[in-house]
Amino acid sequence: MFGMKSKFFSSEIGLDIGTTNTVIYVKSKGVVLNEPSVVAVRTLGRKGSKEIIAFGSDAKKMVGRTPIGISTINPLSHGVIADFEMTEHMIRHYISTAIGKSGVFSSPRVAVCVPANVTEVEKRAVVEVTLAAGAKEAFIVEEPFAAALGIGMPVYEPQGCMVVNIGGGTCEVAVLSLGGIVLNNATRVAGKLLDDAIISMMRQNYTVVIGDRTAEEIKISVGTALQSDQELTVDVRGRDLVDGLPKVTKIGSDEVLEAMDPVIVQIEDLIRATLEQTPPELVRDIVDQGIVITGGASQLRGLNLRLADALNVPVHLAEQPLYSVAMGLGKILENPSDKNRVSILIERQRG
Ligand SMILES: Nc1ncnc2c1ncn2[C@@H]1O[C@H](COP(=O)(O)OP(=O)(O)OP(=O)(O)O)[C@@H](O)[C@H]1O
Ligand SMILES: [Mg+2]
Repeated sequence: MFGMKSKFFSSEIGLDIGTTNTVIYVKSKGVVLNEPSVVAVRTLGRKGSKEIIAFGSDAKKMVGRTPIGISTINPLSHGVIADFEMTEHMIRHYISTAIGKSGVFSSPRVAVCVPANVTEVEKRAVVEVTLAAGAKEAFIVEEPFAAALGIGMPVYEPQGCMVVNIGGGTCEVAVLSLGGIVLNNATRVAGKLLDDAIISMMRQNYTVVIGDRTAEEIKISVGTALQSDQELTVDVRGRDLVDGLPKVTKIGSDEVLEAMDPVIVQIEDLIRATLEQTPPELVRDIVDQGIVITGGASQLRGLNLRLADALNVPVHLAEQPLYSVAMGLGKILENPSDKNRVSILIERQRG
């Protein structure tokens, strides 16, 4: 009786904890949560004990706007846990929100992913934090594999597939075949560095200081990886370094492209190097099928066309770049046959 009850009510969750965003897939429901990986904290008294005052989008609104005593924290850095305690609080909060939305109440079984190139210790930390945050069982799937599965690439076939996941803090390039990762390269060059390049450009060209959020907004509103005939512009509000006063500056997409170009070139170089290391039969498959780019930063205007031109291989943008990884974890939860075929790195139960 108990066994049946707990099985009936137990939920299964796919958890993509990224540097920038956390996405949760609940079995039989789909993606139910997508929130920034940010926590806002108030430090209390002399002892410095901490009280969490906001998570996710509420906390992200506070970034760069906090008074003394309040700070915003990104618990993950470049795809790995930087602050274990805050990651635990954040995951606990998001899991209970996701489960609440899906109407099931027991502690869940969680499929969680990590970048393929992280150390064993970093992988174990992800399992530990997921269990500490309330999961009754946790297992790890490598992120490029989950991404390719989520996109619907033929990962189990004797055929080479290349997936490039460009997130906020990491860019991972992987070649998959026969249900496994043949080759994987990663760099810390991703969306956040594009924002930093815009911040530097504003400082150098206009002596204007802007914050991280403004830089990200510029990237999304006028950023492009390709020069176009129709230049987009945006009015940027910042502070003039010379007189310290607020200033509005009109910025065009060409200038933003010039600033971001060195970062985009590094992403091109990583993909090129991976292609060079790939066995020839698999390269042939990749050229036939095309490379798929995913992750939030893959949505940069014109990036797929620019990469295709630079690499001489067709490049397609995934349909739901922010959800590919969570959807892949979802497929593993929905289809037991997938779980048997996927390489599960670490699997552990609480207690
Ligand atoms: N339309 C857009 N154009 C360009 N960049 C975008 C767009 N939308 C989101 N981004 C960028 O995507 C990045 C976040 O992507 P994603 O959510 O995939 O990262 P993540 O999974 O949290 O990070 P990581 O995988 O590196 O740990 C941010 O840098 C964000 O600015
Ligand atoms: Mg990611």
